[in-house]
Amino acid sequence: MIRVGVNGYGTIGRRVADAVRKQKDMELVGVTAGHPHYKYAVADGKGIPIYALDMKSLEAFNKEGYSLRGTLNDLLQRVDVVVDGAPEDIGAANKAAYSQAGVKAVFQGGEEHGLTGTSFVAQCNFEQAAKKQAVRVVSCNTTGLCRTIGAVDKGPGVTRARAVLARRATDPDDVKKGPIDAVVLDPTTLPSHHGPDVQTVLPGLEIVTMAFKVPTTHMHLHSVILSLKQKGSKEDVVKALERAPRMNMVEGRAGFKSTANVMDWAREKGRDRNDVYETTVWKDSVTVVDGEAYFFMGVHQEAIVVPENIDAVRAMVGGYTREESMKLTDESLGIEHR
Ligand SMILES: NC(=O)c1ccc[n+]([C@@H]2O[C@H](COP(=O)([O-])OP(=O)(O)OC[C@H]3O[C@@H](n4cnc5c(N)ncnc54)[C@H](OP(=O)(O)O)[C@@H]3O)[C@@H](O)[C@H]2O)c1
Repeated sequence: MIRVGVNGYGTIGRRVADAVRKQKDMELVGVTAGHPHYKYAVADGKGIPIYALDMKSLEAFNKEGYSLRGTLNDLLQRVDVVVDGAPEDIGAANKAAYSQAGVKAVFQGGEEHGLTGTSFVAQCNFEQAAKKQAVRVVSCNTTGLCRTIGAVDKGPGVTRARAVLARRATDPDDVKKGPIDAVVLDPTTLPSHHGPDVQTVLPGLEIVTMAFKVPTTHMHLHSVILSLKQKGSKEDVVKALERAPRMNMVEGRAGFKSTANVMDWAREKGRDRNDVYETTVWKDSVTVVDGEAYFFMGVHQEAIVVPENIDAVRAMVGGYTREESMKLTDESLGIEHR
C-alpha cells in the first residue's frame, strides 16, 4: 500500500483525500487542518485521521474539543507521499518540510512550474514523473487544454492553439470573492498565463490564450481554436477526442445547453460532490473551417485535477504503467475508461 497524506483540506484536498480512500493500492494516513470548521467534523465522522498544520492550529482545535493525532511533522513521518493542497503560492513554503522528512510531494497548479520542474497531466506525460521527489499537477484549465489539444494532436495534429476562457468567479463555498454583476478581464493585458502553462506539459506547442471571469461558480467554459497539421474533417477531430481518456462528449440536443446541465448530469449520476472529472466537449460544437478546428469545452474546476493527483502519486512511486494507473483511477472514480 502507498501511504498518502494530504496537507491542505480545501476544495482540492478534500476531493483528493476521498479519492485516495477509493484506491485499492493506497492508504490515506491523514489530512491536516488549519482552522476549526465543520469539514473536519465530517472528516472525523468518516474516520479520517486529522493532524494540525502546526502547534497554533493544534491549540485552536484542542480548545474546540477535537483530539487531533499530532501535527504535520508527525503526519510526514508516517507517509510515502504527501499531496499538498495549500492555497495558491503557499504550497511552495511547505517543500522544505517535505524534503526534510524524505517524503515525495505532489503540488497543485497554484504553484510555479519551477518549484518542481515537472508539470503533470497523466495522459500527456505520466512517464516524466517517474521516481521524481516532487511533481506539480497543473491547474484545472491547463489540465483541460492539455487533454484536448494532446488528443487532437494524436489525430489530425495541431500546429497552433488559441483559446478564450470564460472563468468561473470562484468556488461554490467561497463567499468572499466575486464578481456578482460584472465580466472581469482576467487580466486586461494579453495573452493570459494559461498558454505558457500548457507549454510546461506540451513543450513546443504554439498557443495563445485570453481569459475573463464571469459570475458563476459552476465551471470554466473555453472556446478553443486549433490549426490542424493535416487537413482533417470534423469527423477526424471528433474521433480523436472520443478516443482520448477522460473526455465527456456531450450534445445540445441531449439537453446539454449550459455548464449547469453538465453539473446536473453529474448529480444524476450520483457522483461524489457532483464532480465532473472528465473534460467536457460539446460534440455538436466541433467545426472545421479552412484547416482550423473550433469547439466549446467545459472544465469543472473543483474536480478535473483529482484523477491527475492520484496518477501523479503512482507515477512518482513507480511500478505502474500509465495505462495501469489510469485504469485503476478511472474505475475507482466511475470514469468511463478509454
Ligand atoms: N479551487 C480550484 O478551482 C482549483 C482547481 C485546480 C487547482 N487548484 C489549486 O489547488 C491548490 C489548492 O486550492 P484550493 O482551492 O483547494 O484551496 P482552498 O479551498 O482555499 O483550501 C486550501 C486549504 O489549505 C489549508 N492551508 C492553509 N494554509 C496552509 C499551509 N500553509 N499549508 C497547508 N495547508 C494550508 C487550509 O486549511 P483551513 O481551511 O483549515 O484553514 C485549506 O483547507 C491551489 O494551488 C490552487 O491553485 C484549485
